[in-house]
Amino acid sequence: MAGQGGSSAAPQRGSGRGIVISDDWPGYSLDLFTYPQHYYGDLEYVLIPHGIIVDRTECLAKDIMQDIGDNNIVVLCVLKGGYKFCADLVEHIKTLSRNSERSISMKVDFVRLKSYHNDQSTQDMQIIGGEDLSKLTGKSALIVEDIIGTGRTMKALLNNIEKYKPKMIKVASLLVKRTSQPGGYRPDYYGFEIPNLFVVGYALDYNEHFRDLNHICVINDNGKGKYKV
Ligand code: HPA
Ligand code: MG
Repeated sequence: MAGQGGSSAAPQRGSGRGIVISDDWPGYSLDLFTYPQHYYGDLEYVLIPHGIIVDRTECLAKDIMQDIGDNNIVVLCVLKGGYKFCADLVEHIKTLSRNSERSISMKVDFVRLKSYHNDQSTQDMQIIGGEDLSKLTGKSALIVEDIIGTGRTMKALLNNIEKYKPKMIKVASLLVKRTSQPGGYRPDYYGFEIPNLFVVGYALDYNEHFRDLNHICVINDNGKGKYKV
């Protein structure tokens, strides 16, 4: 792993920085961690341990507070994969808000999208549930997503939301995948930039499986075969 931040004494804050996990990062051996027995044999390695996810999320909460503190925002959680990151991020923002001069008042809404079949992204993004987005008119919105791959899903969601004329939209994604996609979308805040691998855990799924795994892991061929639909 390699950090991407400033080297000056005062830490560089704000958007556009995150932990970069390089293509040759071997990850951590699964037997150095605990994980559910029902996934034994289905995973390749641990890409990001749970503790590191939580620590990085705390830092993202701090960045968000510095940028948009003293505001009322609507947090729009993209289900289902975003639920863990969103819950942890909101908790960290609440803690910071209670303990600092700046406070942020949050409403939390949910939207559900679907664009994946097995481990393949499909062309069409469907909004298949959640709130009436017209509620966002004139409001500041923070969209919270688990992973940005091609960026197509996020661009489609943003197009949809922009129709309702929100005052501000920021996007926080736990993960950004390095894909070969030209003009890839970059969120305002992200936790980790990862290689172009299919990952599961911390609410990210493969056909609804692995959401109950704490660490972010790389699935192996056995796991892909076992849970294929
Ligand atoms: N894992 C789970 N869901 C996803 C992924 C992934 O790697 N990429 C896009 N949606
Ligand atoms: Mg998702």
